[in-house]
Amino acid sequence: MAYRRAMATDALIAEQIDYYRSIAPEYEEHGIDAPGQAELHAAFDGFAIGGDVLELACGPGAWTEQLVARSASLTAVDASPEMIARARARVGEASVRFVEADLFAWRPDRRYDTVFFGFWLSHVPDDRFDAFWSLVGEALEPGGRVFFVDDSYRTAAELIEGAESSVVERRLNDGTAFRAIKVPHRPGELEQRLRSLGWEIRVAGAGPFYWGSGSPRSG
Ligand SMILES: C[S@@+](CC[C@H](N)C(=O)[O-])C[C@H]1O[C@@H](n2cnc3c(N)ncnc32)[C@H](O)[C@@H]1O
Repeated sequence: MAYRRAMATDALIAEQIDYYRSIAPEYEEHGIDAPGQAELHAAFDGFAIGGDVLELACGPGAWTEQLVARSASLTAVDASPEMIARARARVGEASVRFVEADLFAWRPDRRYDTVFFGFWLSHVPDDRFDAFWSLVGEALEPGGRVFFVDDSYRTAAELIEGAESSVVERRLNDGTAFRAIKVPHRPGELEQRLRSLGWEIRVAGAGPFYWGSGSPRSG
């Protein structure tokens, strides 16, 4: 049973990667227009990013561009070569080490002062949540900090398996459909769940957006 569930999750992860590879040229056309964005950007601006930074699931580089200006070094990981090509075109060749990898198979080869991920956590399947946070812990220097931003926005039309499921259907502009994962995390529950995994992370939100910052709990 557990083996079958893991296989089903692997298939979803692969389809989600295909989705993002396909949507890369039109990615910016699918942004969500909802209140809370100003608060999210203020939280990003207020987080003192510095030192050696790791960005997970960098996409076409909107955050990468901002991180590069604030970091001593920046490594950005994404599974989609199409997304990485767009990010590279945006920030320039020399300034960022880009790594093409599936985050559910990748392990960091060094540690970082800051780990950042934008609009990624909600795409982590529930049964890979703990393992994903182990990866984040493995990537952090002692005393290092994590910061993430995300949203819980899902339309009725995309809930093809019902509101209780984290599987949604996403479509390209030409109508091609893909399954993707969209877990509608709530700030309070997320904070508690991270605490039970040994993290001290404050999660706040506005509208469908939320953001979290913190570190592994010491002691
Ligand atoms: C919602 S986008 C976020 C992109 C960017 N961080 C932003 O905020 O604009 C999700 C990103 O995750 C990447 N991705 C999806 N599955 C992945 C995986 N298994 N490993 C690494 N990256 C993945 C996609 O290629 C895409 O760039």
